[in-house]
Amino acid sequence: MVPGCFGNGPPLGCPARHASTEYRAPAIASPDAERRAYDAAVTYVVVTGARRGLGVSLAEQFEAAGADVLAAARSGSACGSQVHPPLDIGDEASIKVFAASIERPVDVLVNNAAIDARVLGAHGDERGPLKLSPDNFLAQTRVNAVGPMLLTRALLPRLEAAPGAKVVNITSQLGSMWYGAEHGRDMGYNASKAALNAVTVRTAGVLRPKGIVVVALHPGWVRTDMGGSSAALGPDEAAAAIVGTVSGLTIDDTGRFLRWDGTDHPW
Ligand SMILES: NC(=O)c1ccc[n+]([C@@H]2O[C@H](COP(=O)([O-])OP(=O)(O)OC[C@H]3O[C@@H](n4cnc5c(N)ncnc54)[C@H](OP(=O)(O)O)[C@@H]3O)[C@@H](O)[C@H]2O)c1
Repeated sequence: MVPGCFGNGPPLGCPARHASTEYRAPAIASPDAERRAYDAAVTYVVVTGARRGLGVSLAEQFEAAGADVLAAARSGSACGSQVHPPLDIGDEASIKVFAASIERPVDVLVNNAAIDARVLGAHGDERGPLKLSPDNFLAQTRVNAVGPMLLTRALLPRLEAAPGAKVVNITSQLGSMWYGAEHGRDMGYNASKAALNAVTVRTAGVLRPKGIVVVALHPGWVRTDMGGSSAALGPDEAAAAIVGTVSGLTIDDTGRFLRWDGTDHPW
């Protein structure tokens, strides 16, 4: 699928809302209101890593909920007549050029792009804490934690211009000390997602006075190149749940570590 602007066309589907005692969803007046969660004001959503995998589904599901979506990718993207430069989230210069091309208030920034050690050529037991190379560890951290921090920083004027803006850092349960102590084959992945979680809580604290919501969100185990074909959730299923969860976030949620369905994930 080619990345690009997903426009503000007619709703294509209904973001799923997974009932949970912890999920504080907004009041929904009718099924139509739920289907068009973002109709009231044209909402602009930026999703990184939206050329394949979960990023594509997130862009499509936000569009289905009525938002304008900029599906950012390393190969570039376009929004109507406006062409946006490629975004390499591991390259600070690329982040600055990409952010400077965005002139609209950004209501939702989804930091989705990420890598694991396999992408960098490390397989099998080369990925564990006794073998993983420092370069691989640091490269994952640059893309998975530093990049989202820098993009949020670069887009801050655009986020400040959108009342109630939200930054959604797509993390992993493997970034949890509770879960990651016993799971995961890739030391750099666990550590980089733990770093992203730390970036999330610290940024949430700094941006709370501005009314900007910042959360870490584990998307579930999803059938993508990264998750593999045995994963529990389809990308559209996970993305629809995430869009529903994000639409219900308020400043009271800032700094939380959430699952795709809006329930709290242990740190
Ligand atoms: N799948 C799962 O089970 C699972 C579980 C927990 C968390 N997650 C998280 O969910 C998010 C999406 O994962 P996924 O499963 O969709 O992974 P994926 O299938 O491997 O796709 C990764 C995406 O990130 C992009 N990307 C990688 N490096 C980039 C860079 N330097 N600059 C810009 N874009 C870059 C890729 O673009 P290219 O096409 O250009 O490479 C691709 O679009 C990630 O944050 C991942 O850590 C996934």
